[in-house]
Amino acid sequence: MAIATFTTVEGLKDESFKLLSGHSIPAVGLGTWQSASKAFQSVKTAIVEAGYRHIDAAQEYGVQEEIHWPFHLKDGAHVPPRADEVLEFDMEGVWREMEKLVRDNLVRDIGICNYTNKKLDKLLSFATIKPSVCQMEMHPGWRNDKMLEACKKNGIHVTAHSPLGSGKRDLIRDERVQTIATKLNRTPAQVLMNWALQRGTSAIPKSTNEERIKQNIQVFGWDLPQEHFLILNTLPDQKRVLDGENLLVNKSEGPIRSVADIWDHED
Ligand code: A2P
Repeated sequence: MAIATFTTVEGLKDESFKLLSGHSIPAVGLGTWQSASKAFQSVKTAIVEAGYRHIDAAQEYGVQEEIHWPFHLKDGAHVPPRADEVLEFDMEGVWREMEKLVRDNLVRDIGICNYTNKKLDKLLSFATIKPSVCQMEMHPGWRNDKMLEACKKNGIHVTAHSPLGSGKRDLIRDERVQTIATKLNRTPAQVLMNWALQRGTSAIPKSTNEERIKQNIQVFGWDLPQEHFLILNTLPDQKRVLDGENLLVNKSEGPIRSVADIWDHED
């Protein structure tokens, strides 16, 4: 669980989504996953030159202190953790502390990340402040429609991480995406970004490249025609890329023995 996003209102681009709290979240943010030593320069470029007002960060990336997955690991746990390094996750206790941050005006919004329907239902059964944002992997290769629907039903805004695909599923080089981009005279990244925005999600593409940081936010003022949107919305081979296996699964010792365990056996 994490405070998923940082937003400011001053200088906010017009293009933003309303949150349950009444605040707004800019539709495009900068992902900093694996940006490492380039993070500072990338964030500076994004804010000063490209107009970003939404930066995504987490302790795991070495760029901010948070808790990142909805699990409780012992400090200094191995990767993946050993059996005795996976502790009971006190979801209610953590959420109560996060709610306190809102009540004490220390943060404006609180959110969740890498959640399942099961975990969301549990959270909503006791939350007195609902999460404003749920962040999860989302791109045409992993639409994650069930979670998107569950969030929409509860008024929770969704932020798509890895909106350009990632690793094994590099959608920038996907033939269908490239064909659409050529037809529309846009880049593949801009096509993918607009697909995310048209689904009502904000998106946080990671880049440490100045030109690409700027390119990725130039996605307003035009829409993907319905026919192209539908092509991207029906790609086969739906699969998570960032499934947490390397981080959390310990096949021999457990307690998380498979990717399915991480995601509560939901698809
Ligand atoms: P770069 O940082 O060199 O721009 P991730 O796999 O972490 O989700 O990261 C997205 C990948 O897409 C990164 O390798 C990033 O590389 C690349 N990328 C980001 N924006 C663009 C773009 N507009 N065109 C092509 N590649 C991009």
